[in-house]
This record gives sequence, C-alpha cells and structure tokens, in this order.
Amino acid sequence: DGNDGYRLWLNYEPVRNASVKSEYLKYAAFIGRPASGEIMQSASQELQLGLGKLLGKSVNITNSFAGKSGGIVFKIETSADTAQPVEGYRIQLSGGNMIISSKSEQGILYGTFALLRHMQMQLPVKGLNLASSPRVRYRMLNHWDNPDGTIERGYAGQSLWKWYELPERVDPRYADYARANASLGINGTVLNNVNASARFMSQEYIVKVAAVANVMRKYGIKTYLSVYFAAPKTLGGLKTSDPLDPQVRAWWKEKVAQIYKEIPDFGGFLVKANSEGEPGPQDYGRIHADGANMLAEAFKPYDGIVIWRAFVYKADPNADRFKAAHEEFVPLDGKFDPKVIVQVKNGPIDFQPREPFSPLFGNMPKTPLGIEFQITQEYLGFATHAVYEAPIFEECLDSDTYVNGAGSTVAKIVDGSLHGYERTLIAGVANTGNSRNWTGHPLAQANWYAFGRLSWDHQLTSEQIAREWIALTLTQNPKASGHITALMLRSREIYVDYNTPLGLSRPWMGVHFAPEPWQNKGSRPDWTAVYYHRADSIGLGFDRTASGSNALAQYRPEVQKQWNNPDQTPLPYLLWFHHVRWDKKLSTGRTLWEELCTRFYTGADSVVWMQQQWDLAKPSLDPQIYTDVAERLKVQRREAIWWRDAWVLYLQTFTKQPVPAGFEPPK
Ligand code: GCU
Repeated sequence: DGNDGYRLWLNYEPVRNASVKSEYLKYAAFIGRPASGEIMQSASQELQLGLGKLLGKSVNITNSFAGKSGGIVFKIETSADTAQPVEGYRIQLSGGNMIISSKSEQGILYGTFALLRHMQMQLPVKGLNLASSPRVRYRMLNHWDNPDGTIERGYAGQSLWKWYELPERVDPRYADYARANASLGINGTVLNNVNASARFMSQEYIVKVAAVANVMRKYGIKTYLSVYFAAPKTLGGLKTSDPLDPQVRAWWKEKVAQIYKEIPDFGGFLVKANSEGEPGPQDYGRIHADGANMLAEAFKPYDGIVIWRAFVYKADPNADRFKAAHEEFVPLDGKFDPKVIVQVKNGPIDFQPREPFSPLFGNMPKTPLGIEFQITQEYLGFATHAVYEAPIFEECLDSDTYVNGAGSTVAKIVDGSLHGYERTLIAGVANTGNSRNWTGHPLAQANWYAFGRLSWDHQLTSEQIAREWIALTLTQNPKASGHITALMLRSREIYVDYNTPLGLSRPWMGVHFAPEPWQNKGSRPDWTAVYYHRADSIGLGFDRTASGSNALAQYRPEVQKQWNNPDQTPLPYLLWFHHVRWDKKLSTGRTLWEELCTRFYTGADSVVWMQQQWDLAKPSLDPQIYTDVAERLKVQRREAIWWRDAWVLYLQTFTKQPVPAGFEPPK
C-alpha cells in the first residue's frame, strides 16, 4: 500500500515511539463534545479518524462526559475565560483530560488539527500547553478555475470543481480539500478565476456553488466568487454596467440577495477590474472606488466583503509597469467603503521568482491592503521544478517599508498592526487540481502547506515549516529530513540562479515556461521580454532610478537608499533597478557578465546537488514518492541547462564575450 500523496500532510501514520504512544493513550478513552453545530462535529470526526490511525484505537464521541477523565474534551470559552481572539485555541491538561478550548467552534477545529499535528510528530504530551491564534482575519485561497474545468496557470490537472455534476453530485473530494485547508487555518476560498465568467452569477451556477459551500461550511471555510464586472449588461440585459447607474446598483443588490438566499454565510466577491482587458468602472469614466463601493453597498445587509484587486497596468510604451498600481491606487486612499479590502500582489510586476515588495504597501494607510501570493508555479517551472516558496513569502512579509520608521514591515501592514486595519487578508493563488496528489509535483504540496501556515502566523520561519511538513508528509528520520530540508530551503535560490539571476525578470511571454528572453514582439510593449531586461551592447537591466523611470521614488528614502546606488544595491535586486555595464566589477570581484555566467552555471549544476540530497533521503522515503520526485528532478536538470544555455547564447549576442574559463560553452 504505497503512499500516492492523496492524504497530503494528514497521513496519521501509526505512532511508533512506544512511550509517546502510551502517553497519548491515557487521553484516548473518549472524545467529549458538548452539544454543537457542524464545525465541532467535523472536529470530533477528524479526531476520531486521527486517533484511530495514530493509536490504532477506536475512540467514542460522547456528550455525556461530565466528571469523566482520560479523554479529550472540547470546551467553548467565553470572554470571561480568555482574552484570546475568537478563532484562537488552547490545548491544556486539566482534571485528567486534555482540553481543547476556544471561543468558537472554528477555534476548536483548529486546535484539533494542531493536536493531531503534535501527535503525528510524536511530540510529548507532558506539560502540553499549546495556544495560538491567527494574526490575519481572512486567510484564503484563490482558484483560477474556469467553468469548463480548465485552470488558468494550473499545472496539477483539471479543476476540482465538477460544475457539470453539481449540485446533485457532491464529490467527496470537496470535503478532503476542506479538511486540508482547515488543518492550516485557511477560512475562505474563491472558487473561480479572477478572469471571471458571468455565468457564476446565474441561478443555475449559484445553486452549484451553494452545494460546494455546504461542504466548506462544515470546516469553517467561507465560499467566495470572482465576478465579471460587466455582468449586469451581459447577463442581466441592462444597457450599461456603470456603477453609478441606479439600475445597475439595484441589479447587484438583488444578485447579492439571491446568493445569500442559497448561501447564508457567503464570503463575498473578488474583483479584477480594468486589468488585462477585463471590464471595470473605468469603462464608464468612473474610478475603482466607485465600482468597489457599489458592490460593498450590495453587501451592507450581510457579513460579506468586497476584495478589489490592485493588479493593474496600462499599455503605455513610455511608462514603467512597475509604477502602475501605485499611481492608480494611492490617490484612492480613503475613498473605499469599509467593507472593501484592496488585494495587492506581493511585488509590483507579477509573481516573479524574486521581486522587491510592492510599493503600495504602507502607502494606503486608510485602506486595508491584503496581500496576494501565488502558490501555483506560473513563473517557477510549473510542476517539474522543485521550488519551495516559503522563502519568497517570508522575504516579502519581512521587508521593511519604513513608512512609520524602521520596523514597518509588510507583515505589519498586512496584519493590520501598523495602520489599524479592521479587515486583514492574505490570499494565495492555489496550486491544486484534480491530479491524485493534488499539486502535480509532490514537493509542491509544501507550498500549499507553507502558505496556509504563514497566513495563520507570519512569524513562523521557512525552515520550521519545511521541517514540519516533511515530518507530517515524508519522513521523520532526522538525517533524511535534514537532506530534504536543505534541498527545499535552497531550491528557490537555485531556480533564480539559472532562471532570473541578479534581479532579471520575465524572460518569457505567453505560457511562461520556456526561455524566451529574445521575445520582442507583442501586442503591447510590456508584453515582450526585452521590455523587462533591456539588454543592449552596453549592459543589462532596467534603470528605475531618477535617471530612468524613477520607480524608486515610490518607496521611502530609507528603501531608496538600499537600492539607489548600483555599487551598494544587494546583488539579488541589482538589475531590477539599474542598467549595469557588462564589464562593471561587482562586489564578488567578477564583472557583470562573469557573474551572470557563474549564476547560470552554478544554478544549473546545483540541480545535481538537489538530486543528491533527494537520493540520500531515499531509504526513508515511500518508493512511489521517491521515484516521482527523482524523475521530476531529472526533468528539472535538463530544463535548467536549457535555461542556462538560452540566456547565455542570447546575451552573448550583446556582450560578444565568451563564457569565462572553467565553464563549458553552450551548444
Ligand atoms: C498574470 C497571469 C494571468 C492572470 C493575471 C492576474 O498576468 O499570467 O493569467 O490572469 O496574472 O493575476 O490577473
């Protein structure tokens, strides 16, 4: 019975450590669940399932546990008991029982998963005292799934949502999806693509969505939809979708009411407007806030929110796309309804392997800004390259914006602590699909896991999360775990080295997979590769200082200081901000050209090192997973050489220089 990856990090392998197991068994007499709603029922069922597998014991769920000991007991607390936020949990030993307590059923569910994680890792029961609460309120996945079952930028098969079967047939996999998310603390999911089909606003689809929402609700997850801004016109038959038109406003109000009739806890709308050809308020001479506030008004009677994306850029050949979102959104600060959250991609361009943080963070103090990360590997080698993304997320969250002096990190803006946002949000573009192991690449499961864990607590480190995920998913052998942790932690840097070193970006167009740094034809100037790297006979890189686009001026002076001077700019960001001469000597002692070659070659060679780490872990791994990853690493090795050679040969047409001694020339 091999491990096919379906169970993700919820494997619940039997606890082998005998002394730890006997400690756990002292609390396995019963599961005490007071009268409850369906979320606490899910928690008790999960615990029953987990204990059954971990301890080999079938444990009863009971509501008559008063005076009994030796069990695990759920307890709903009141404000008098604890000051903890409503979704937080505590796990303690008391009166011979193990108590999982929270102010909400949702918190009990999160506590249950935390306990199961603890047990899976075979950690001791003695002195058990776990307490945690989320730092961010809306922790959600964004699915870019289309009604026809395809997934935009999805590399793990087709959509999980089987619209053609719904609402009658409810695939059991929806519940497993919800369990996996709840185990991380994710409490929201947007089911459809931001390039939205108006179809989702039809009654036919609303009842389908409601059937999925019925499953999500049991796990404390709210369901959201992306909306097509022109739906009043295309679906509703109105003459316009102008957000200030009374009929349009009435249409959305009725639409939202219609949704709440089927989905009483509906989460809200996610909107991509006036971006990459999508319709929006600007089509009618209105501003983003007009559109967002119109929708917010429709949500007034309900709990739902409007999430308005800031991913915008115009087709202006003289502009710098880097600056676009800041230019459009900063003037709107203070104009949004309190029910609106503006969702900002982590970087100013588009989920590149490395980007500086978006200059919007910190510059809209009156508007709650949520952050959007991409989990699916659109620019990170799809499902054949192993890239552990936690360092990407962490690097951005830890970046200092200096907006209120030193220590004004992106994380503090996103979690609301800096500007006192009431509504806070972290979103991740999902990497799931219907492939058996959910994510295509087995190691990509770790990216879903890491996103979820960080959305709950952004102070966890990439390494902690990697170790945890490995223990839950792959192996608890310390040596093997060490090798896999090393592989994961270096994987992003290795990818950057052969793909976009020293601050290069977007060397591809269209499908975003194959190297195409030479691509110079597109329907817009910023839809070419040469727009981004600006290679010429003199040098390489995009001058974003005052002598160039001056995008740097969008940051605080302290940040500008880090990146303004090419001699002092940290090498990972160099070509993001400077056009650097090929023969310029860098801090490494090598010229730019030599440094680039060094990165391309060592990057591609480091994939061999990754293969070695993986092989060293082999004796501790499930054979099926071992082979799957080993084979994907072979593909990655081949593709890394492809990237290296494509870049080197292309850049040589400008530099006219050979690769430095010691590196074999590309063929
Ligand atoms: C990227 C991606 C698109 C996506 C867009 C977005 O440009 O390639 O597929 O629609 O981001 O985030 O809206």
